[in-house]
Amino acid sequence: MIPAYRSRGVGGKLIEARYDIVRALNLRGMAAGSLIIDYYKVADHIPVEQYVQDVVDGKRFDTNLSKQLRKGFKVHGLIPNYSIHDLSLGWGVEIVWENPDYTEQRRPEKRIVPRQYAVQAKPIRPTFALKPASA
Ligand SMILES: CC(C)(COP(=O)(O)OP(=O)(O)OC[C@H]1O[C@@H](n2cnc3c(N)ncnc32)[C@H](O)[C@@H]1OP(=O)(O)O)[C@@H](O)C(=O)NCCC(=O)NCCS
Repeated sequence: MIPAYRSRGVGGKLIEARYDIVRALNLRGMAAGSLIIDYYKVADHIPVEQYVQDVVDGKRFDTNLSKQLRKGFKVHGLIPNYSIHDLSLGWGVEIVWENPDYTEQRRPEKRIVPRQYAVQAKPIRPTFALKPASA
């Protein structure tokens, strides 16, 4: 997100909309890769593991990861060579949000199209011959 639009609640609302979809579909949760866009500032003297631990502990603020943690994501691991993003120095952080409302019983119906319709569906072809373009 370009800096002028950060921290105005827009990204948070988009995350909440995604959580709503996950809840509506009764999915277990959502996994994503997060960029640590302030890591470049300290990368010459702080190992990436320490940096991410500090962000998780609230000792450091990362303009991207800290906000995602604030919205309920949890760090599950580090992903090397995740991105060519300069600021994150290639690192991605595996983040997961678990749907607190997920229930085993309410799995959505997987087969959305009734089988008979799926089998019968055929490409529609014109019943008339196409005329060649007139010269
Ligand atoms: C992370 C992201 C959602 C932030 O968007 P944003 O519009 O700047 O953030 P918001 O203003 O909505 O704030 C989100 C949360 O962080 C908090 N926050 C925002 N700025 C803050 C600051 N300077 N200090 C502390 N907390 C802050 C907000 O209070 C909010 O939490 P709340 O809902 O509990 O109040 C957005 O940059 C994004 O989607 N990044 C993903 C990029 C990425 O990693 N892509 C790869 C994965 S596919």
